[in-house]
Amino acid sequence: MERIFLVLTVVWLSAVGGRAQQNGELWPDVGGKHINAHGGNIIRYGETYYWYGENRPYRGFTTEVGVEVYSSKDLRAWTDEGVALAVSEEAGSDIERGCIMERPKVLYNAKTGKFVMLFHLELKGCGYEAARVAFAVSDTPTGPFRFVRSTRINANVWPFDYTAKQQKAAMKTDASKWEKWWTPQWMGETQKGMYLWRDMKGGQMSRDMTVYVDDDGRAYHITSSQENLTLLVSELTDDYLDFTGKYNQIAPGGQNEAPCIFKRNGVYWLICSGCTGWEPNEARMFRSESIWGPWTQLPSPFVGEGGYHGFAANKTFGAQGTYIFRKNEEAGTPYVFMADIWNPRHLSESLHLWLPIGFEADGRPVIRWQQQVPD
Ligand code: DGJ
Repeated sequence: MERIFLVLTVVWLSAVGGRAQQNGELWPDVGGKHINAHGGNIIRYGETYYWYGENRPYRGFTTEVGVEVYSSKDLRAWTDEGVALAVSEEAGSDIERGCIMERPKVLYNAKTGKFVMLFHLELKGCGYEAARVAFAVSDTPTGPFRFVRSTRINANVWPFDYTAKQQKAAMKTDASKWEKWWTPQWMGETQKGMYLWRDMKGGQMSRDMTVYVDDDGRAYHITSSQENLTLLVSELTDDYLDFTGKYNQIAPGGQNEAPCIFKRNGVYWLICSGCTGWEPNEARMFRSESIWGPWTQLPSPFVGEGGYHGFAANKTFGAQGTYIFRKNEEAGTPYVFMADIWNPRHLSESLHLWLPIGFEADGRPVIRWQQQVPD
């Protein structure tokens, strides 16, 4: 009886659009259903916010529906606008139902007037081996988006500042001969560019990813590459539908996933996770004055106790980042770290966590637990 009352109250409060979501709980949309948009991002277009994310099944982990989109005027009352990019029913399509679509990010391109979606794609039946990035495009924020293509990245190109000496050293490595990972020798070879060289011809791997549009409108794709060992930052073309070929590595051999980035006072801050599947781990942070580096690693910005189910700062409060956004840049509202508390048994019920980013006197980001979701 009590439970029915609670559910009805949630539905009613959601329907009138007034309920403030709470970190660590299910977040109902205006229809009373938990927001099924994971690993995604939020953009503002006009007076409306759009939240894109993985529509995940209750059981299993492959993509059966596609990328979902919600809209809101206040970041509180979210309306399900349906499937922005649907899986294909065509056998053999890159996005055939049963593929894996992860970490979708949508960008508005002011030059073309199009909405461009990039996401991590794994081909049906191939586990996580394909390691591709995919592009889709739409004239409207809610879609339907049209799938453009999926690809490995930066084939036959070296990172833009790789010296002739570095190239020579990488070309001497041989990834096929290392059966045992994590030895100092293996790490030495990895940092010399062993996987970069292995994938030179076929293109670099791209798994967990984000995008970033700089003040000049230039957009970048940041992704976990080289067996999730090294991050790559790659410049996108003017229409955001391809790569220019200019790219660089971040933290070779550092094993970073779930990249999230923002810029404040001319400094770029990159917050990532380690690689422990769906389990939470300690976040990592990097700082740079240029998108091209050099990036300096600093301690995790998460501090203190609290968190989901007792996961404190050393486990990112039980979550893994997906995006950093601001409600209103001009009004100076806080930067919000948006994350997923994964529920691998029922991925559709993975929870959302939004925390405001504070700053130390030296400009360093700091993130503390709070139950209340920031504006
Ligand atoms: C961690 C990644 O960040 C998620 O997006 C997902 O790929 C899981 N790994 C799969 O185990």
